[in-house]
Amino acid sequence: MTKTYLFIALAACLPCMLAADLAINSTEFRKSFLESFKRDSLSTTPGDAMMLRILIQSLGAKRGVEVGVAHGFGAINMGIGFERTGGHLYSVEIDPGRAQISRDNLRKVGLEKTVTVVEGDALKVLPTLDGQFDFVFLDALKKDYYEYLKLLEPKLKRGAVVVADNVIVSQKAMADFLQYVETSRDYETVIIRASMEKNDGMSVSYRLR
Ligand SMILES: C[S@@+](CC[C@H](N)C(=O)[O-])C[C@H]1O[C@@H](n2cnc3c(N)ncnc32)[C@H](O)[C@@H]1O
Repeated sequence: MTKTYLFIALAACLPCMLAADLAINSTEFRKSFLESFKRDSLSTTPGDAMMLRILIQSLGAKRGVEVGVAHGFGAINMGIGFERTGGHLYSVEIDPGRAQISRDNLRKVGLEKTVTVVEGDALKVLPTLDGQFDFVFLDALKKDYYEYLKLLEPKLKRGAVVVADNVIVSQKAMADFLQYVETSRDYETVIIRASMEKNDGMSVSYRLR
């Protein structure tokens, strides 16, 4: 009798034990996948990507947009954050080859349900995205950052966070964007360096209203 109860109890616990094991494995697998990721000059640095993830998690962000995906290094890092918040990321990439590679990479780490890669020109895609957003990462053409933000603004929630990459190295190309987020009464903005890998930084803007 006792043996039967023990067996039933063990059988009942097994799925939980397996699930916990799988979760640990997937965290470890993702970590090593990111560590061995073949980053190139397009990829966000690990420090910046971790900063994005931490911002998403701290904010409890539920719907994000990434403009410019390349091979998905940033998208995977942000996707891990959105998986934890129960949110979703829409990542827009103009280059079909890169869009496919980023989709493949996201599938390899099991984030294909959390991150949707939308292929197309962000200037055309952003107006077609439905719903509201509370997190934005701008990382495509530097001269178009202001336009990306203006296209997204009607869908930006109060309290949304907008992060823009390469704001030191490409300061001139995005002068209109920086002037706007640094002087508008609708945003509070700071420039940060989360990585020492490149002599560059990101702007982080909080939407006040
Ligand atoms: C710096 S990389 C993005 C890196 C990526 N965010 C990461 O975290 O690794 C810039 C990407 O933006 C894409 N891009 C350029 N213009 C674009 C546009 N108008 N719409 C969408 N993507 C664009 C490029 O093809 C390139 O893959």
